[in-house]
Order: sequence, then C-alpha cells, then structure tokens
Amino acid sequence: MAKLHFILPCSIPEVRRSISSRFTVQLNNLCSVLLCLLAIFPLSGSEQVAGFSPAAYGELECGSLSSKLLIKGGIVVNAHHQEIADVYVEDGIIVSVQPNIKVGDDVKVIDASGKYVMPGGIDPHTHLETEYGDIQNVDDFFNGQAGALAGGTTMHINFVPPINGSLSAGFEAFAKKAKKSCMDYGFHTTITKWDETVEKEMEIMVKEKGINSFKFFLAYKGRNMVNDEVLLKGLIKCKSLGALAMVHAENGDAIVEGQQMMIDLGITGPEGHALSRPPVLEGEATARAIRLAAFVNTPVYIVHVMSIDAMEEIAKARQAGQRVIGEPIAAGLALDESGIFDPDFTTAAKFVMSPPIRKSGHDKALQAALSMGVLQVVGTDHCSFSSTQKAIGIDDFRKIPNGVNGIEERMHLVWDTMVESGLISPPDYVRITSTECARIFNMYPRKGAILAGSDADIIILNPNASFEISAATHHTCSDTNVYEGKKGKGKVEVTIAGGKVVWEDGELKVVSGSGRYIEMPPYSYLFNGMDKVDAAYLSSLGAPVKRIKAAT
Ligand code: URP
Ligand code: ZN
Ligand code: ZN
Repeated sequence: MAKLHFILPCSIPEVRRSISSRFTVQLNNLCSVLLCLLAIFPLSGSEQVAGFSPAAYGELECGSLSSKLLIKGGIVVNAHHQEIADVYVEDGIIVSVQPNIKVGDDVKVIDASGKYVMPGGIDPHTHLETEYGDIQNVDDFFNGQAGALAGGTTMHINFVPPINGSLSAGFEAFAKKAKKSCMDYGFHTTITKWDETVEKEMEIMVKEKGINSFKFFLAYKGRNMVNDEVLLKGLIKCKSLGALAMVHAENGDAIVEGQQMMIDLGITGPEGHALSRPPVLEGEATARAIRLAAFVNTPVYIVHVMSIDAMEEIAKARQAGQRVIGEPIAAGLALDESGIFDPDFTTAAKFVMSPPIRKSGHDKALQAALSMGVLQVVGTDHCSFSSTQKAIGIDDFRKIPNGVNGIEERMHLVWDTMVESGLISPPDYVRITSTECARIFNMYPRKGAILAGSDADIIILNPNASFEISAATHHTCSDTNVYEGKKGKGKVEVTIAGGKVVWEDGELKVVSGSGRYIEMPPYSYLFNGMDKVDAAYLSSLGAPVKRIKAAT
C-alpha cells in the first residue's frame, strides 16, 4: 500500500527528528488534488492512499471531504448526563444522538461498546509557537495540535502576545502561524502596557476578531508584567466589552527579591526557581486580582492555579458570590516539586515553569477543589522547550525558559487522576475538560457537547486500556516530557475532529490547514445579570447627598 509519509519538521533545529513512522500526514492542497484524482481514476486496491480510502470516509467530493460516521453503542457522556446511544455524524456536525440509528453502507461505523464517547477536550491555556525572551518554544501550531489530537484534545485557545505593544500586529502574526493548523483553535490576547491605542485595539479584537478574553501578567517584571493601575484599567475595559480578564497571579516585584536571595545564598540551580517564588506570592497576587475585579464588578479568570494559597482565595471569593474562575493545569494536578530538586540538571530544568509546581499536598488539594467545583476547568499551559534550550540557564535558574508540556497528556492524566481514582464521574470529567471551557469562552453548545448540531469533535475512551507517557513516543516536539514514565488507566483510542477520524489504532491522520479559527463572541454567561448588580450597587450608595445650602 502506498503511503504518504512526511517528515514533520519540528520548528527548532536541535529537536528536529524523524517522526514519520508515527504520522501519516496529508497536506491540504495535495489532499484535494489526490481526492479529485481518486474520484475520477480510482486506484486498484494495492495503490490506495492511507487514510483516504473512499470506504473509510463515505462519499467523496472534489474539493471537500464529505464524511459520514456512526459511533455505535458507546456510553455517550455530556456534562450533566450519560446514556448508551449511537452518534451519527455528517459533514463535521453531529446529526443525531439516540439508540439504534440505522445507516447505509456508505457510512463508516465505529463500535464503541463498553467505551466512553465524549466531547473532544478543549485546552483553554496554550502557548504554541511562542517566544520566551528570544527563545522560540518547540511546538508550532501543526506539531502541537497533532500531539493534542493523539491525546484527545480537539480544540485549544492560544495566547497571542502583542508585537511592540500592538495587539493587531500580534493577532495578524499568530493568524499566519496558525494557518497550518490541523484542529480548531481560538485566541486570547495579552495586555502588556496601557495607552489609548491598546484600549482601541481591545475593542477591535472583541468586535472584529473574535477574541473575548485578555490576559494580564502580574509576574515577569521588566517583560510582560503590568502594575495595578494597568490591571485596573484593563478590568474596566474588559467589563465594558463583555470580555473576560485572565490573570497570571504571582507578585513579580517580590519574585525579583526572592531570586536575588537565592543567588546570594549560592542557589543557582533549577530548585532556586521554585524557592524564589513560594505559594505566598501566588496567594497574594490572586487575592489582589480578585479584589480589584470585585471593585470593578467584572468576572476574572485565574490561570494556572498551582497552590493551596491561590485556590483558597478563589474559594473565598466564590463563596461570597464573586464571579471567579480558577484553572488548575495538568502539571499542578499530577506532579509535585520533587522533579525540580533532581540532581540531574536536564531533568530538573524541564520542570521549571511559573508559578512553580508545588510541594506534595498542593496537588491533592487542587484535585479536591476541582472535584467539588471550587476550581472549574483544567488547562495545560503547554509551552514546551528542548533540553538544549533549557540548558541556557545551567548556571543561573533565572535564564531557564519557563514552561512545560501537557497538551497531549492532559486528557489521560485528568481521567486517571480524577475519574479512575474515584474523585469525579465521567460527566464531571467532560465538564472540566471541555464543556465548562466552551461555556466560559462562549462557544457552547457548538463546542463541548455531544448534541445534535454540535461540531463533531469526539473522543472514544476505553476505560480498561492503559497509557504510558514518554518523550520517546509522544507526538509533540520536545526531547523531554515532564510526565516521563507515568502510567495510568483510560486510553483515548479514537479522536474525531471536525467529523474526521484523525487518531485511530495508534495512527495519526492529520491535515495541515484543516483546523479552523473559532471566533468567540463577548458576554458569556459570566456576564449574565451584571447590569442589575451594578444598578443595585448604584442605588444603594445613598449619594450624592442632597444638601441644603447653608444661609450666609
Ligand atoms: O512557565 C510558564 N507558565 N510559561 C508560559 C507562560 C506563562 O506564564 O503562562
Ligand atoms: Zn502564566
Ligand atoms: Zn501560560
């Protein structure tokens, strides 16, 4: 059988390696041409192109791939309900979810009995193809997404940094980079300074570019960090646009002091990174961001909640009725800080991220908070560097590029850590890995659901199969993996993205250019009723007080 194998070029030369044996890649244009040729001149059985046999995809049309799929007899799970049913898909959309759907011979049938059929994962927090200082991380939109698909994630929302402060320039640059996408994606934009242009551009992003969230860094002093004044102005602007403010909550001023303390103590290795920015600094910044959001009365989303300290601030605010979303990440749930204390530099450096992965105990507390709804969505903060790139900080932890992998591993780790362990049910799993993200970023029920009319982004997970994670077998580009050697129960055996089977029998069939940019409108459910709350506040002021002019 003739196969189309392409060497996937990882974007960083030193991590470039042949992974052709794990991929069958079809490039978009080439694919259309081949499809037309196949339809006009069908090949004999021995010459068919892998992944493009007409029998596998139902009807073929020149220029587009019409796909009809029936997923038979699985346990269909949505965020509030599960049932045994069939799922019928046509042209990228779920058409019907009910028992015993009958179809013709032109439909590919997948037997899912005894397995969970769930919405594909949505990763709300990724940094594909992004620079840390001068260093570009290793996974571009194609490679990172290919890994995501192999792990059951079918959409992600990537952060877009401004270019020289310009949000529009940042957006255009990332729109270009993302053209090679093989799964759906959206963008958040980062705010790093404040002026009239930024304010105007925020409006353009929301009204014309499909962005409904902006991130503010309270850490990374001298680079991306904003002060309280910028955060406040940003919160006010977000509120006026119906956009969600997202905050990286660590105290950047205190971290600089902490880093100097470590250097003065002669602690220059990766452990100095964790020791210089303890949980108290994450708790302080989380509390500050939450209180300023309360002052403005606008929702706030705390990204990568890594500590009990931050989680408890979120719990307190939510208990008081404040609209605060807390996002733990796979690394915070599944790892502890022991890795960064490893005597081998390369091993220790791969765990360097901010906020740091905390001492054992924080992981369990974050899991518990997630299980009870104190925290709501799981991201990854996928921002992967090679060991060579991390080695730039061999003599000074402050130079180690910050970031870990996770886009490929999140769905397996969350299933194993949260469902297999008995902490949550499969519907809860769907909620924290997909549905709630779709609701927060205003894409539900197009995304995050197995319902008639939803996009056909679907995974089939076998609860009795197991997974093992290794850099030797993952599909993303780094030569290391922070979850190296982790084994667990629950394996994503099939991933369907946009109605196409892209991962099956351990083989990826991904098409560069097939991923779509998903516009996200403002005013998600988090803004419901805020006008009434504001009006009640204004009428409660008892001001301005009408005063009788004193007689002179
Ligand atoms: O270490 C991290 N988290 N790297 C990515 C950038 C960020 O802070 O989210
Ligand atoms: Zn961050
Ligand atoms: Zn991040």
